[in-house]
Amino acid sequence: MPATVVVGTQWGDEGKGKLTDLIAKEMQLVVRYQGGHNAGHTLVVDGETFALQLIPSSVLYDHITPVIGNGVVVDPVVLLNEIDVLEARGVDCSNMAVSGNAHLILPYHQELDRLIERHLGKNKLGTTKRGIGPAYADKASRVGLRVQDLLDPEIFREKLTAVLGEKNLVLAKVYNRLGFDPDELADRYLDEVAPRVAPYVSDTVSLVHESLERGEHVLFEGAQATFLDLDHGTYPFVTSSNPVSGGACVGAGVGPRHIDRVIGIAKAYVTRVGSGPMPTELFDETGERIVDLGHEYGVNTKRRRRPGWFDAVMLRHAVRLNSLTEIAITKLDIFDTFDTLKVCVAYEVDGVRHEHLPYHQSDLHRAVPVYEELPGWNTDLSRATERHQLPPNAVRYLEFLETQVGVPIGVVGTGPGRDQYVHFSA
Ligand code: IMP
Repeated sequence: MPATVVVGTQWGDEGKGKLTDLIAKEMQLVVRYQGGHNAGHTLVVDGETFALQLIPSSVLYDHITPVIGNGVVVDPVVLLNEIDVLEARGVDCSNMAVSGNAHLILPYHQELDRLIERHLGKNKLGTTKRGIGPAYADKASRVGLRVQDLLDPEIFREKLTAVLGEKNLVLAKVYNRLGFDPDELADRYLDEVAPRVAPYVSDTVSLVHESLERGEHVLFEGAQATFLDLDHGTYPFVTSSNPVSGGACVGAGVGPRHIDRVIGIAKAYVTRVGSGPMPTELFDETGERIVDLGHEYGVNTKRRRRPGWFDAVMLRHAVRLNSLTEIAITKLDIFDTFDTLKVCVAYEVDGVRHEHLPYHQSDLHRAVPVYEELPGWNTDLSRATERHQLPPNAVRYLEFLETQVGVPIGVVGTGPGRDQYVHFSA
């Protein structure tokens, strides 16, 4: 019953889509377990770029059933739009399964996400404004609507009317906005959305377990990343779900016993979008170079990502939080023209050295990175496919990361293409 989790180890945008795509060949089921269309994965296949937000990247493989688990928040309009775009490009989505227990993102969630951020002013979180936080908040408050509600018009209308009673008051009294007409919204979703979503709605928990019982490989695909985790990230500058590997258990309906491999994805440097602490952030020309060479702009939101050097302190913590069995390093080629590279090996907080993440977040805000400097390789890595084709200084950099982090590096990304990677570990 082999099951693997792929999880981001930094602040997202580590290139999880490509790694997932790489190991997808061995998988029969690929399950997203949290997040929503705040994610964005880019895949380059035969020179064609696919930008996906909600549907698992494995949809491009015929032999895989892509699953949207109960832990995901689903904007059904976005889902249908993504299906339309993919099918127009010849990708068949008909075998996709969407959990009936997944919660819906509805127009008032997006409106509230925008208004809450505006209200926070300079203290804003920098959310993707996709309605993720408000939808998860409704789930926790037990006033959310679920995908399965779309299949029962009476229930859908009833729940929507009840919840809009409160939302419309908040919109009017707090934000001075017009509310949503429950009947108009219910009619629209029941007439235009529900019939098209219905064929995909499934009992995804049974689907996952039946697949595991047949001895098939199941992949749980995390969105966002460890340090955006609601419980373990840099709260409140986090997303509203649990990207850590344990989130796969809750968000897909499996116990931890099933998971035997956890792959952490780490970029050769770090980036972050939105607000929040980031000890190795670069504000200089080197940072600009990383952003330019790495095209570090959001796939969907187009926001510039904040760049920084690789942070081994964070990675050590990610190893613990996720029980990582290995890491994959992405975008190593971005450093091809760098003379020297830095890796943060510890933090100094008020003169005290920390090898592990300080427990108190105020310390993280004041953490000064302690760097080790390594020589660059000044070589184009884009054609390397075997470890022995990597220049000695690239191997040295990777071995240094392995020692610092404490788990082996499996795959190393050397370019955006599907075939541009090296198997590093023996
Ligand atoms: P939300 O998930 O839209 O609520 O945004 C909360 C925080 O998570 C913000 O700082 C976002 O920039 C960040 N975030 C959400 N999704 C992603 C992602 O896929 N990549 C990187 N950052 C993300």
